[in-house]
Amino acid sequence: MTDNDLVSQLSYFEKKVLAALGDIGSGSPQQILEIAGLEMLVEVMNASSWLQAKGLVKIDETTTKRYSLKNEDAAGRPLPEKVVVKTIISDFDGKASLADLKRTGELKTDELQIAIGWIRKKGWGELSKEGRDTVVRVTKKGREAIDAKGEDELLLLRLAEGDLSETEVNKDTIGQLMQRKDFLSERLVTSRTISLTDKGSDISGLDLRIKEEVGQISPELIQSGKWRGVDIRRYDVKAFAPTVYGGRKHPITLLIDKIRTTFLTMGFTEITGDFFENAFWNMDVLFTAQDHPARELHDTFYLSNPEAADLSNDADLIDVVRQVHENGWKTGSLGWQYKWSLDEARKTLLRTHTTVNTIRRIAADPKLPFKVFSIGRVFRNEAMDSTHLPEFVQIEGIVCEEGANFDMLCTLLKEFYKKMGVPKIRIRPSYYPYTEPSLDVEIFFNGQWMELGGAGIFRPEVTEPLGVHKPVLAWGFGLERLAMPVWGLKDIRDIYVSDIDWLKKMPQV
Ligand code: PHE
Repeated sequence: MTDNDLVSQLSYFEKKVLAALGDIGSGSPQQILEIAGLEMLVEVMNASSWLQAKGLVKIDETTTKRYSLKNEDAAGRPLPEKVVVKTIISDFDGKASLADLKRTGELKTDELQIAIGWIRKKGWGELSKEGRDTVVRVTKKGREAIDAKGEDELLLLRLAEGDLSETEVNKDTIGQLMQRKDFLSERLVTSRTISLTDKGSDISGLDLRIKEEVGQISPELIQSGKWRGVDIRRYDVKAFAPTVYGGRKHPITLLIDKIRTTFLTMGFTEITGDFFENAFWNMDVLFTAQDHPARELHDTFYLSNPEAADLSNDADLIDVVRQVHENGWKTGSLGWQYKWSLDEARKTLLRTHTTVNTIRRIAADPKLPFKVFSIGRVFRNEAMDSTHLPEFVQIEGIVCEEGANFDMLCTLLKEFYKKMGVPKIRIRPSYYPYTEPSLDVEIFFNGQWMELGGAGIFRPEVTEPLGVHKPVLAWGFGLERLAMPVWGLKDIRDIYVSDIDWLKKMPQV
């Protein structure tokens, strides 16, 4: 950053403080406040800490002890040892016993004790035992002391004028006064000195262009034209700020939103379906033979209550589908050449793919053209591993319009994955009972080819019974398999572990 850039990122207060320091080099916040003509110490301190963060000033802190009188008249009252010495001289001719002193009632017993202690310490009197009593004899030093002011008294007088810091007082005298109860209080005061660093002094020498600064533009500012004369505060977008974690959508929800928007902008309409399905719609209508391995228990979750679906509304279609399976009906196909069973078709199950949604949609309204999609959960009785989940979401779709062909299907698939952030996919021939040709979409990821989904053109055995005589392009992709390359996940199960750190750091777009 150049010096001029630095200047342009300084706030009004920062510039004021820098300019003031340019004059004095270093000073207390109070001094800076006065020189800069600012109003509040916080303005100086805030600006100074920002300047410190930018390396332009240094803030030194020193802690000192400050002393003040606890009681205003401590300075006016004579010290108790002085009272006692005076009494001994005037009333007892320079020598008195403790009993005598007590009798005068000048001081309370405990004060008298304290006074005697100080008389001994200061050498103002000598103590001796006479019989059972203690006798105090005032010394020469004591006689001189009563007319003069002692160091301690002088300090008390100075303190009566105002606080003093430890550097302004004699350590021993202050120590003595601190020993007395209720005379002084001591507190720690931190004082700050703000000084320019070398860099700061370079900058303070530049033209700081100090102008009144506004943080927010108001209509008044614009209408009056005053905006021309003010500085508009720049934002430091790189300044540290703590990250705030609010409530947010799960990444999968966001990905689904994005897929939905992508299909909608490509002219598709969304359809939905039920988790609860039956074999007739999930398989038979899709020309899946009743002895197809996918119908075995290891792939499909069959339901026990109810065990058989009510297919009475589909009687006409059932009759056609039975013929398609047994002999191809009028489709030109030979069918599967076996005895079709209605009981098998009535079995209830959790849908194994969302192709059941699109086929139901065609049956409900076979009028061309159609371009529909669905995003929904499917269920498969499969072992879980790093690329398999027993419950996952499929992105399903069909297109039937003028000119729809295999090329169009491949382009559509590539386009979709590119929009999702997967630039390179591989399309391979595959097999599904309901499409011809059939293909799989794969991606090279984590060191191997991973299947993202299947697609193809519905066979006439599927479309003819529904009254559709044109090719229908169809596909079904795994949502979580798509999320893996998009988010760089090694294990598909991580998506649903709900690791809070992972959830926090996932982008919200
Ligand atoms: N239903 C297939 C699956 O579950 C995907 C697919 C859909 C294949 C449509 C071809 C056509 O994997």
